[in-house]
Amino acid sequence: MKKIVVSLVLLGSTIFADYTKEDRIADMQAMEKGMADIQKGFLYNSNDLIQKGVATVRNHALTLQPPRIGEQFSPDQQYAFMFARKQQRKIDSHAAKVGIKFAKGDKYQAMQEYTKILKQCTACHIKLRKW
Ligand code: HEC
Repeated sequence: MKKIVVSLVLLGSTIFADYTKEDRIADMQAMEKGMADIQKGFLYNSNDLIQKGVATVRNHALTLQPPRIGEQFSPDQQYAFMFARKQQRKIDSHAAKVGIKFAKGDKYQAMQEYTKILKQCTACHIKLRKW
């Protein structure tokens, strides 16, 4: 019983804990890995690698939290936050299309969708990171 209570408390604290800069960096690194898997999938002609990369990118694109006002890379406008949310949804949708097009054998179209993901990554970095 004690164990159950302890694990519930732990579970609660991981779900409700504030999303930190470290969490964000971990999400970013995971997406980078996912993108690398997708690229390898194209080069090795592996649907498995493509689908694995797509799943990783989609998982992290939707859970990542953009910086909020007061954080190091914070936007000074609410607009930047909304912009980030839009980028995340676009990443999710383009990633889904990479998987669908590749599985159908439309490799060029899958690659175009891949480029579109990279564009959203970069757009957010330029706006939020000032890179
Ligand atoms: C919501 C805006 C946003 C989107 C979308 C976004 N990034 Fe980032 N990214 C950031 C921010 C902000 C940082 C800096 C992290 C920090 O220090 O808070 C970052 C940092 C990174 C880093 C460096 C991590 C490190 O080790 O320091 C990598 C790699 C990265 N992003 C990859 C990606 C990839 C790949 C994508 C697209 C699939 C992507 N990002 C999409 C905002 C974004």
